Amino acid sequence: MHSKIGLRSVTTTVCIACVNLMLLLSCQSRKSDHQTWQVYKGGPDANNYSALDQINRSNVKDLEVAWTFYPDDEPTDFQFWKYECNPIVVDTLMFITSAWRQLYAINAATGEKIWSFDPLQGRRGGGVLRGVTYWKGDGGTERIFVNARSRLFSVDARSGKLDTSFGEQGTISLNIDGGPNRSSIARLSTPGIIYQDLLIIGAAVSESAGAPPGDVRAFHVRTGALAWTFHTIPHPGEKGYDTWPKDAYQYAGAANAWAGLSLDMERGIVYVPTGSPGYDYYAADRTGANLFGNCIIALDAATGEYIWHYQTVHHDIWDYDLPTAPNLVTIKKDGQEIDAIAQPSKIGFIYVLDRETGTPIFPIEERPVPESRVPGEESWPTQPFPTLPKPFIRQAITEGDLIKFSDEAFRENKQRLDALRFEGLFTPPDTAGTLFFPGSRGGAEWGGGGYDMESGILYINVNESPEIATMDKVKVTDHKPGETKYAVGQRFYNTYCLACHGVDKSGIEANPSLVDITDRLSPAEIMDQVNNGAGIMPSFVSVVKGYEEELMAFLAESGKDELSSAKSMPEDTSTTYLNVTAHGYFLDGLDRPIVTPPWGTLSAIDLHTGDYVWKVPLGNDTELQQPGAPPTGIENYGGPAVTAGGLVFIGATLDKTFRAFDSATGEVLWTTELPGHALANPAVYQLDGKQYVSIAVSIGADLRPTKCAVLTFALP
Ligand code: HEC
Repeated sequence: MHSKIGLRSVTTTVCIACVNLMLLLSCQSRKSDHQTWQVYKGGPDANNYSALDQINRSNVKDLEVAWTFYPDDEPTDFQFWKYECNPIVVDTLMFITSAWRQLYAINAATGEKIWSFDPLQGRRGGGVLRGVTYWKGDGGTERIFVNARSRLFSVDARSGKLDTSFGEQGTISLNIDGGPNRSSIARLSTPGIIYQDLLIIGAAVSESAGAPPGDVRAFHVRTGALAWTFHTIPHPGEKGYDTWPKDAYQYAGAANAWAGLSLDMERGIVYVPTGSPGYDYYAADRTGANLFGNCIIALDAATGEYIWHYQTVHHDIWDYDLPTAPNLVTIKKDGQEIDAIAQPSKIGFIYVLDRETGTPIFPIEERPVPESRVPGEESWPTQPFPTLPKPFIRQAITEGDLIKFSDEAFRENKQRLDALRFEGLFTPPDTAGTLFFPGSRGGAEWGGGGYDMESGILYINVNESPEIATMDKVKVTDHKPGETKYAVGQRFYNTYCLACHGVDKSGIEANPSLVDITDRLSPAEIMDQVNNGAGIMPSFVSVVKGYEEELMAFLAESGKDELSSAKSMPEDTSTTYLNVTAHGYFLDGLDRPIVTPPWGTLSAIDLHTGDYVWKVPLGNDTELQQPGAPPTGIENYGGPAVTAGGLVFIGATLDKTFRAFDSATGEVLWTTELPGHALANPAVYQLDGKQYVSIAVSIGADLRPTKCAVLTFALP
């Protein structure tokens, strides 16, 4: 017995020694990879991790602003939604885009501007872009790839000049030819990723009817030539084609990877998280499971060939897009080390899958879900439910989750809740109104998880924000003689614009607010936008004719007592069902949350076991916090940066605060007030032996800022 153990232990010792050596080597190479921030989210692993530890638990309290950079191209009359840029740093240079879309090279130690590049040559930019991509070639060639509108630009990293040998005089179109039935407009909201001499990108496209297909593409970095395309909406003969109606590849759109990609450099595998196919909430024209919508797709990075996929939502009718690139992680399980990916989702699940095969590391159960009652909708009968880690947010509201600001407010909320359809996660949107909890803004968002490569802990910030989805058969043709211009314009807006610009015109996600738009743009400028489209906004030239005055009246909040003389539209342009309250918060009569706090949290999850190490509220609403109660947590966008100094840096909250948490305990070790909300991921880097932490800040009204800045912190 003893000798047997002895014998075993000899071999094991040898093995442990070599494993240790291998681990050490791989740790070292991993660590050296994480001294800089040359890639969005700190590396192709999307881990938001830095191996730097000069700033640590004991001295973080001394952090101060080293420099602040204000891009000098911000027009004062332009509201954007959020400034989400995650800076990258190469040697002494930091590269950022402004909210208006100029590219800047900044001295990373001082914040001094070195050069700037205006891809749009003075024309309006906007939308969201979370950063840029850096590539260095053999001959010392260095490029920055930046997107503006539907074009990608290749810029010399040192001089800031266009590389005119790339594409057409330095730029290529990112548009995707959708054929006669679809728009072609595509852009990036998240930068692409470099594999060898390829720039691999997903796409941000419209998710309404007529959206282009969300092809994943690779372009040659030197020439801009297309290297490969992967169809997320499969063509005849391609895998997954049979999960759609047979002609869907010619008319269905989206299923796009807007949230970025992660890459296993050694294996040469790129991981693609896709969103739902269009239209987000009604899918009578796309019966079937709809591969590769809502999937993690593993592709050969060199060729774009399919390796494996995992579908997280079948036949999505909730807009439960995968919101971030998955983290590349290594799990210790049953004495083995397994390279895996950890994919956070909007619905509170983390899908932990083997990197090579896509096999779940923890069991995932396929469970029956409620059926749609909306005519024509064939919802999918089952959906996958990971058993571990446990969901990081509530997935239902019980009576105990309803907040009690007063007995009366509680009763009212209870009544409203009871009137909604809700039978658990994946309850289909309904004409009576369906509770979406988690809502479509998460759960997890595009900031993604921070992964500590040493402890195996994933840090993830999330929203707990219920929404109501109300399906309505909207028909522009419905209008009757005697209606006002305003009313007809509103119906036109609800049919064609609401999905992006929101029920109250305040804009959804990257789509700008149209509140007071007539103060900022002339009618001609507005009609130019509507007729031609811009960015991911399609052209409405074919439908707006005859409705111009009505649309303008609605946008200007006028025409409420002027009769409309617009003619009814031909019957065949009547539309199907729309979610007319899409992305609307479920609030009480006084615009307060209806669920108990926390409304935003930060969790630390041990991925080896699936267990929670800690979970704390993230942010605080000082007005709504009850006396003696813990912080409320608040809505947040943007992710963490985890460091070897034992810290989790995170802004994200809508309370103008940047925080550092103790990664072991969740204790807040440092906070600082910012000039605006930090709706972005931090970047961590060092220069001349000094460690810095940078964060992009949106300055101005909540989610309607007009100015942006990058703040950089260091020890004195
Ligand atoms: C698919 C989403 C989408 C739809 C649908 C859409 N828009 Fe837009 N809209 C956008 C985006 C994105 C922008 C910003 C484009 C850019 O980058 O310049 C925008 C910009 C605008 C602007 C300019 C705003 C500014 O501050 O400069 C106007 C005006 C506008 N849209 C009106 C409309 C109207 C009217 C409709 C309906 C007929 C509509 N949009 C439908 C996405 C959309």
